[in-house]
Amino acid sequence: MTTSTTTSQPASVEHLRPLLDKLTLEQKAALVQGADFWTTVPLPEIGLRAMTLSDGPAGVRGPRWDEREPSLNMPSGSALAASWDVELAYRYGAAAAFEARRKDVDVVLGPTINLHRSPLGGRHFECFSEDPELTGALGAAYVSGLQHNGVAATPKHYVANDSETDRFTVDVRVDERPLRELYLAPFERAVEAGAWSVMSAYNSVDGVTMTENDLLETPLNSEWGFDGVVVSDWTAVRSLDSIPAAQDLAMPGPAPAWADLAAAIRDGRLDEADLDRKALRMLLLAERVGALEGSTTVVPEPVDGVAFVRDAAVAGSVLLSNDGLLPLDASALTSVAVIGHNAREARTQGGGSATVLPERIVSPFDGLRAALPDAAVSYDIGAVVQEGVAELPLAQIENPVTGDPGVRVEFLDASGDILFAEDRRATALVWFGGDAPIAQSATLVLHTLYTPDETGRILLGFAGGGHARVFVDDVLVVDDTPVITGTDLGAAFLNPPSSTAAIEVAAGSAIDIRAEFTMGSNDSVLPGVFSATLGIAPDECDPDALIAHAAAVAAAADVAVVVVGTNSKVESEGYDRLGLDLPGRQDDLVRAVAAANPRTIVVVNAGSPVVLPWADEVAAIVQGYFGGQEFGTAIADVLLGVAEPGGRLPTTWPAALADVPVIDVTPVDGVLAYAEGIHIGYRAWLRAGAEPAFPFGHGLGYTTWSWDSVSADDEGYAVTVVLSNTGARAGKQVVQVYAERADSSIERPARWLVGFAAVHAEPGETLTVSVPVPARRLAHWADGWIVEPGAYTLRVGASVTDLPLTIDWEVDA
Ligand code: BGC
Repeated sequence: MTTSTTTSQPASVEHLRPLLDKLTLEQKAALVQGADFWTTVPLPEIGLRAMTLSDGPAGVRGPRWDEREPSLNMPSGSALAASWDVELAYRYGAAAAFEARRKDVDVVLGPTINLHRSPLGGRHFECFSEDPELTGALGAAYVSGLQHNGVAATPKHYVANDSETDRFTVDVRVDERPLRELYLAPFERAVEAGAWSVMSAYNSVDGVTMTENDLLETPLNSEWGFDGVVVSDWTAVRSLDSIPAAQDLAMPGPAPAWADLAAAIRDGRLDEADLDRKALRMLLLAERVGALEGSTTVVPEPVDGVAFVRDAAVAGSVLLSNDGLLPLDASALTSVAVIGHNAREARTQGGGSATVLPERIVSPFDGLRAALPDAAVSYDIGAVVQEGVAELPLAQIENPVTGDPGVRVEFLDASGDILFAEDRRATALVWFGGDAPIAQSATLVLHTLYTPDETGRILLGFAGGGHARVFVDDVLVVDDTPVITGTDLGAAFLNPPSSTAAIEVAAGSAIDIRAEFTMGSNDSVLPGVFSATLGIAPDECDPDALIAHAAAVAAAADVAVVVVGTNSKVESEGYDRLGLDLPGRQDDLVRAVAAANPRTIVVVNAGSPVVLPWADEVAAIVQGYFGGQEFGTAIADVLLGVAEPGGRLPTTWPAALADVPVIDVTPVDGVLAYAEGIHIGYRAWLRAGAEPAFPFGHGLGYTTWSWDSVSADDEGYAVTVVLSNTGARAGKQVVQVYAERADSSIERPARWLVGFAAVHAEPGETLTVSVPVPARRLAHWADGWIVEPGAYTLRVGASVTDLPLTIDWEVDA
């Protein structure tokens, strides 16, 4: 099924038509397809340089996936959303713009503004929230922060790409009303903020793949006035049927599906006007980012990235519970037991295309050690979380050719001759763009000298999507093709399976490791991309002994900090989660530590909800999300009260998987039906009358508040809320305003978020806060936006279920 020919073309492109007229049909056809993975086609004849697009969105990777060109690793999208802070989201976009320009990037592929429809969605860490208002407001601010600094934003993935299972083919069936009120709403806000680009998704909606879907035209262009470029998700363009649709740029390029584009126009199968429409938008984008001669390149405001990501991680950390132990008094602590795999191997970001390579990462253990120089801060693993091999630490590897820390990498042809060599500083390597001759090589060799720091047995091996062999001191120890589970390209390539062998090593005594990866042995990944990891898998040690050891260490300390979390096999692009439990024996670990030391604090290192069955047994719980490269510093700030944890949950946290009202992410016969309609997230919990572990909007601070009054704002569609900081510390509060409509002529959510504001107050200070509630926030979709006249109730407070203030709100006919 193809869509009708598109018609709407904004006036904003018309001044570029004389330039377009200088182009041949072939040039125009080239312009609407990438030149390669990350760049567009330059046309120097008309003063157009190539534009570079890059993932993000929690930082900017740049056109090469290379640790020698590090990026700022910003807190994940869900951490940003947990800040509920529009101003912070703007600064986040501005910091991304500064990074983008540092890396010669014109277009950032983000923000990711799909919704947390089911907590099983594997890519939640990258998306913001289960709520369209929170997602929309923060997404729009991110877009403005980027674009006011001259870099294009690409809100993605348009639309209904809210889970990962069969993401290339799934047909999402969703009614018009939930589509408009929930899934399209954040995109509408991003376009209102002026987005210069939008990414079309892989999936279908109501039977038509998104790159050919009418939704690209209506509402995006025809109703919202979008005048930018619809970029396809990578390889999402399937056929020439996307030419009459409002799909503007096919990435990466040249796109096989559009190889016949010029010929099809010549022989009358397609209309040249449809191509012109796309090409004009490409020229406008180029003008906006300064890629067209004569256009201005905005120089972004400089940002102290490290300081910003620390602040943002604090702002996005949610204090879920606290019996009064937090904040800790640093001066009174003599010993702290830091426990947990993620305490030392923190996850600071989720997996998949959003990955960036930071220069350094501060783990919670590092952060606490640095913040407590006078206390004995010990580390104990307690439970194994990692699955498969993790790369070898840089400090323990030496490049045999240069003698520097790192690994020698060589690409060999079929006769063993070196085609290309590079000296890298990591043993987890991805080629996705860049100069390496992936397609021409037969073998990839990683060669390094590894010096263990402990004597004993290690599980050495590789992770990869095809065949590889590993030699230790010239002896073959692994020769295998690990089995890929699942069908997702991205997962097979960015999260491949491992194969290892047990070998004995001695502390301080270097071993020579050579890994040979057979290239082209895995056809399931994109041509020209490759990933290879050489590393060590966790040993099969006795889990009960690990827990007992950690509990003993905790018993002897003033306080125990257990960092629990997910791993790369749990939260990543390309697959959904199978459950909400913490992997491995972490629940048992927490219980044992809490039993050994009542002063146990749990830090959760996950990008989306996990079940915490021991929540009532510990003194305090901080949800840290994937907090970016300064995660550990931020956790130390929060635990020691240097800063107040500023986060509020952007998504409901269930107590058990079985309680979740909307859970399903698995298509049946290729179809995923959004049968719940407008009731997702807290709306569904309220409707079901079910109790979550922690409600939407929940989060504690270190001070106390009184909610004094709410009144209608004189200006019209806004409420004025008065609240006071009644405690002894400065603090942050998020004023949340929800609407209810008791006597509605249509089905409504029990309650829905219509406005919010993050505020700060000194001890004793009273704040008067105006929160806009535009009429549209009360509207429902019925072939158009309709605001039912009559009585609404607005309820104000600190979470969806903690709403001490109420005001009747009358909407005139
Ligand atoms: C992801 C996009 C990403 C693109 C380029 C796709 O697989 O879904 O979010 O921008 O790859 O890496």
